[in-house]
Amino acid sequence: MLKKLSLAAVSAIAVASGAFAAGDAGHTHDVQFSYEGPFGTFDQNQLQRGLQIYTEVCSSCHGLKFVPMRTLADEGGPALPEEQMKAYAAKFPINDELSNPQLFDKETEEYRTLKPTDNFPALYSANAPDLSLMAKARAGFHGPVGTGLSQLVNGIGGAEYIASLLTGYTGEEKEEAGTTFYENTAFPGGWIAMAPPLYGEDVEFADGHSNELHHEAEDVAAFLRWTAEPHQDARKRTGFVAVFFLVILTALLYLTNKRIWAPIKRKG
Ligand code: HEC
Repeated sequence: MLKKLSLAAVSAIAVASGAFAAGDAGHTHDVQFSYEGPFGTFDQNQLQRGLQIYTEVCSSCHGLKFVPMRTLADEGGPALPEEQMKAYAAKFPINDELSNPQLFDKETEEYRTLKPTDNFPALYSANAPDLSLMAKARAGFHGPVGTGLSQLVNGIGGAEYIASLLTGYTGEEKEEAGTTFYENTAFPGGWIAMAPPLYGEDVEFADGHSNELHHEAEDVAAFLRWTAEPHQDARKRTGFVAVFFLVILTALLYLTNKRIWAPIKRKG
């Protein structure tokens, strides 16, 4: 009896957290993102399009509570002009007041509008996970043979996973314990409780870029990759400078070493 109970409990937890059954990993397709490789940087226009998709579609269910509004103006990010970033923050809706007590103004007894120093609001009422770090919390590449070694070369594939998830719906759905699940080829286990958020042509881009489903999916995935690692471009630049100096230092040390030992070596 006890055994049965605990098994039921475990599977209940497993379903609730969308647990990853072994051998049941979803399929992630590879995407060539601009930020890949040692010198790759984020594509500013793509991040802006991704921000637009997040704002118009995903933000009704998902929060980005670790992302400060002001970083939207940062270089190496969407790089919105300062004024635009301020206006964006001021008109961002707070859909879930209870999850954002920090925005409650005790004097006016109302929820205040967002300032550049505020983070995006948290949003838990829709039972959807926060997306700030999602691109780092999920791995898309597990091979070869489940060792994950390919990640050393390809990265963990979090953004690829998100893009695959958004394009991975098969159209099948089922009802279980009062929840509708949608079949998805990228989601581990195959059934996700998120209805397909994108169908293609969900948003109009100001830059006239294609809004076909797979483009939208890649744009918002790149944006979420930036929210998860906003300082990537600066990190790569610093790394490059550091390695450059180390190479020069190595050359100088080699020559110094040769010179110091030259008299002794000559004697031999
Ligand atoms: C109608 C509400 C809703 C909208 C809109 C929505 N989501 Fe979700 N999302 C959910 C729910 C609910 C879950 C949890 C699903 C589960 O665990 O089965 C989820 C889960 C996720 C996950 C995590 C999957 C995993 O591996 O656990 C990602 C990534 C995601 N959503 C991305 C997005 C993106 C990107 C958008 C906008 C294009 C979006 N969602 C729009 C409700 C929504």
